[in-house]
Amino acid sequence: MTDGDHPGSRDPLGAHGPDDDAEAVRRPAGGRESSRANRGWWDRNADEYQSDHGDFLGDARFVWGPEGLDEAEARLLGPAAQLRGLRVLEVGAGAAQCSRWLADQGARPVALDLSHRQLQHALRIGGGQGGGAVFPLVEADARALPFADDSFDLACSAFGAIPFVADPEQVFAQVARVLRPGGRWVFSLTHPLRWTLADEPGPEGLTILNSYFDRTPYVEQDASGRAVYTEHHRTLGDRVRDLVGAGFRLDDLVEPEWPEWNQQVWGGWSPLRGRLVPGTAIFVCTRV
Ligand SMILES: C[S@@+](CC[C@H](N)C(=O)[O-])C[C@H]1O[C@@H](n2cnc3c(N)ncnc32)[C@H](O)[C@@H]1O
Repeated sequence: MTDGDHPGSRDPLGAHGPDDDAEAVRRPAGGRESSRANRGWWDRNADEYQSDHGDFLGDARFVWGPEGLDEAEARLLGPAAQLRGLRVLEVGAGAAQCSRWLADQGARPVALDLSHRQLQHALRIGGGQGGGAVFPLVEADARALPFADDSFDLACSAFGAIPFVADPEQVFAQVARVLRPGGRWVFSLTHPLRWTLADEPGPEGLTILNSYFDRTPYVEQDASGRAVYTEHHRTLGDRVRDLVGAGFRLDDLVEPEWPEWNQQVWGGWSPLRGRLVPGTAIFVCTRV
C-alpha cells in the first residue's frame, strides 16, 4: 500500500492504508476493542511511521499536525516563559517528540502512549533515558490514566489517542481528573469535516461521500472480523459537549491553514486539499 491509496482509509497520521490483508468497513467498535486493535496496529506500524514521518516531526519539535503548525510559533500551550517548571502530560505521545521539545523549554513532561513500539522509538531518539532530555515514558491507555488527581499543570496531545478511542468522554474525564483546576488541555485531531470526504490527497478527495452526522466508526478488520485498527468520528458539536461535560471550558478552536512552504503529501493530507478544507482541528481548553 502507498499512502492514502485505499478507498475509505482514514489514514489518520498513520503511515499507510489498511494492512494488506485487512478490510476497511464502517461498523460499531467499543472501547476495549478499539484500544486492543490500535495498540496492535501502532506496534506493527511504528517503525514505518517513524521512518516515513520522523524527519518532518523532528526529534524535539512540537508539531500539531500535517500542516506543520509548530508550537514554537503557535504558543497554544501558553507563553514560553510560563512553560518552565510545569508538570505536563503528553497523551498518545508516540516517540515523544513533543515532550522532548517541552523538556527543552524547561517543562517537566511525562510521555504516555499505548504502544510499546512507539515508546521504544522514544527511547531510541533519547527521551527518558540515555539521551539529552530525561523524562518518564509511560505505557498505558489514555482511557485509564495511571496518575493521581491534580498531578499535572498542563496536558497536551498532537493527534494522540483521541481520534482512535471509542469513548473520548472517558479520556477527557481522565485528563480533567489528573489536571489541576485552571490547567490547560490542548489537543489536535483530524478535522471532523474530513470525515465527509474520500480520504485521498488528490481531487477525488474533494467529493463528499459520507454524512457528517454518521458517527459509525471506521474499522479495519481481519478475515475473521476482528478489528485491527479503528478511528472514531465526532462532530464539532459532540466534541464541545464532551469537553464541557468533562469539566472543561473551550477557549479556542484552531484550524491551521496549509502554508505555502509545505509541499508534503501525508495520507489524505496534501497542499491541494489543505488550501480548500481544514484538515486538523486543535482544541484549546481550560479545566474549570
Ligand atoms: C499519530 S500518533 C501521534 C503521536 C505523535 N504526536 C506524532 O505526531 O507522531 C498517535 C499515537 O496515539 C497512540 N494511541 C492510540 N490510542 C491510544 C490510547 N487509547 N491511549 C494512549 N495512546 C494511544 C498511538 O499508539 C500513537 O502513538
